[in-house]
Amino acid sequence: MSDTGRLQDRVALITGASRGIGAAVAKRFAAEGAHVVLVARTVGGLEEVDDHIKALGGSATLVPCDLTEFERLDNLGPPLLERFGRLDIFVGNAAVLGTMTPLAQYDAKAWHDVFDVNVHANWRLMRVVEPLLRRSDAGRAILVTSAVARRPKAYWGAYAITKSALETMAQVWAAELANTSVRVNLLSPGATRTQMRSAAFPGEDPQTLKTPDALTDTFLELASPDCTRHGELVELS
Ligand SMILES: NC(=O)c1ccc[n+]([C@@H]2O[C@H](COP(=O)([O-])OP(=O)(O)OC[C@H]3O[C@@H](n4cnc5c(N)ncnc54)[C@H](OP(=O)(O)O)[C@@H]3O)[C@@H](O)[C@H]2O)c1
Repeated sequence: MSDTGRLQDRVALITGASRGIGAAVAKRFAAEGAHVVLVARTVGGLEEVDDHIKALGGSATLVPCDLTEFERLDNLGPPLLERFGRLDIFVGNAAVLGTMTPLAQYDAKAWHDVFDVNVHANWRLMRVVEPLLRRSDAGRAILVTSAVARRPKAYWGAYAITKSALETMAQVWAAELANTSVRVNLLSPGATRTQMRSAAFPGEDPQTLKTPDALTDTFLELASPDCTRHGELVELS
């Protein structure tokens, strides 16, 4: 690992970092010199990412946590402040697909679970990270959305609706932070070879899809101190 990466000595909090897109972003940011704080439930997945990062000479802090444990999220601020004094990058990437079910037949608990992870946890984290991002010279937030928020399809139910809510939340947040050095953007990754995509399209050959690694240049651009985009939705195909 060089000591002149594009995120040298930046501190990044990434949710959903145990696999898929979040894991790829964590590895890339660490390779670019960031210290990455990684949130997900699966300890084994987080440890695999950590092993990869350590092998590159990078560093990570693992936070095994269920994002629906809201009190734990609310309590993340003080330890981050004490250890790092700030946060430079927040990537709100974790999400669940829920079930592919007609709205009228959607199970109520499953509905609330999807809202808890995809919307409420991101809002709880926004509250926690905003003061820390403001302490950075160039705080950057990236919220990961989906094209189905803007092009809704039958049976995508709670997932589509939560991504739509997330997009509006990100735009409101961006407007509130317009006069600060914090930049907030949405990234819609498009079809990507992950567990979530396989669950949504079980008959699809994953080898026909781009890998999560192919997205990391765009995440890097939005996370970099020189990023000037704000309140934008960056849509990849
Ligand atoms: N893949 C695609 O084609 C595609 C397309 C459009 C948008 N996206 C978006 O891209 C983002 C990443 O998705 P992905 O495809 O990489 O999905 P994935 O492989 O299923 O990964 C989802 C990540 O979210 C974490 N997560 C889920 N529920 C959690 C909870 N309750 N607490 C903590 N962590 C939780 C998972 O970790 P644990 O299970 O270990 O907790 C995992 O690390 C999502 O926002 C998704 O909506 C993906």
